[in-house]
Amino acid sequence: MTLTMQTTSSLALRVQEKFQDVFGGRDHLTVRSPGRVNLIGEHTDYNHGFVLPAAINKAVYMAVSRRADDELHLVSFDLDRSYTGSVKRLEPSGYHWPDYILGVVQQLQALGKPVGGFNCVFGGDIPLGSGMSSSAALECATAFALNQLFGFDLDPMTMVKLSQKAENVFVGVQCGIMDQFASMFGRKDHVIRLDCQSLEYTYFPFKTEGIRIVLLDSNVKHSLASSEYNTRRQQCEAGVRLVQQQHPEVRSLRDVSLEQLQAYVAPVDELIYRRCSYVVEENARLQSATADLLRGDIAAFGRELYGSHEGLSKKYEVSCPELDFLVGQVRGQQGVIGGRMMGGGFGGCTINLVEEEAIDALVERIAPLYRKTMNKELKVYIGQIENGTSALTDLR
Ligand code: GLA
Repeated sequence: MTLTMQTTSSLALRVQEKFQDVFGGRDHLTVRSPGRVNLIGEHTDYNHGFVLPAAINKAVYMAVSRRADDELHLVSFDLDRSYTGSVKRLEPSGYHWPDYILGVVQQLQALGKPVGGFNCVFGGDIPLGSGMSSSAALECATAFALNQLFGFDLDPMTMVKLSQKAENVFVGVQCGIMDQFASMFGRKDHVIRLDCQSLEYTYFPFKTEGIRIVLLDSNVKHSLASSEYNTRRQQCEAGVRLVQQQHPEVRSLRDVSLEQLQAYVAPVDELIYRRCSYVVEENARLQSATADLLRGDIAAFGRELYGSHEGLSKKYEVSCPELDFLVGQVRGQQGVIGGRMMGGGFGGCTINLVEEEAIDALVERIAPLYRKTMNKELKVYIGQIENGTSALTDLR
């Protein structure tokens, strides 16, 4: 076993130690798979639009080894729970976390990949329910680890797609491709613009001198998220069908203009119109935001973030009072470039760009206000942009 990275984080070491304790042996493989932030382009991925995510310094660490039988022995280090099953009979576990792993095994099998029995221990530091995609990280960790363990030779995009499908089919959330893509393809100090229609992607340097990504965690767990998420998806599809009656060539909201929405959707269904117009506008915002970034106009980039929040809150209606409060409180404050809710919505974090020296004062002001107004504790994370899923150790 050789280390392929210079340092292995203490979390990875703890996962590896647990693996030794439970399963013994030295021949295990360890992978790191990160969570993600998304700078702009929210709820656009499943509408074949653009997103601008990055992998971050919070990750899932997973150690795996082969077994001689068909059994699956899974251990969640953080929850101190274990699950035993068989690769021959994959059924929903009834308690959530194993399903992300089982779903990936099922999708590997659907691709004709013969997954054998394996032992697995995983843990990490992506806060659950905070909109940083701990589930995508777990799926990508599993896909990457099993691909290497069994020598399937799958390329990263195939692993992304099968991880997304695992969540769609086994977990039942109709998520788009962004989270799994960002977790797998992340690159240190870069954001990635992904065209969710063609799956072409471009890395943009994101090393803004003196400015940090500050995540304000509302501490609201997004329980509504999966049902409302699926509803939003259906509403967008309903809008596309209305436009298709006049323009059958249209395949998704990516092909639709605001004028078409005004002409064919607004007169029929005001709610569907609002949902769809948000998506079309968000794609346009992302385009100008990336142009701002290339020009180095970070102030203009920040304004697009506020525009995105406004749309998500008022038109797409996936925000909540806590997220609106947090964005309202940072707006116009000294050293704040921009902010908005991030991810699926109904809780989780806001993402903010803040000048380094303004962060402490900002947090000191908002945290007590948040406690007083919302009766909840604010958690704060500074996001660093890191590489995507990778192996920490090689089997030798
Ligand atoms: C969740 C989904 C993603 C994406 C975002 C919203 O994170 O998993 O696919 O749709 O919500 O942008």
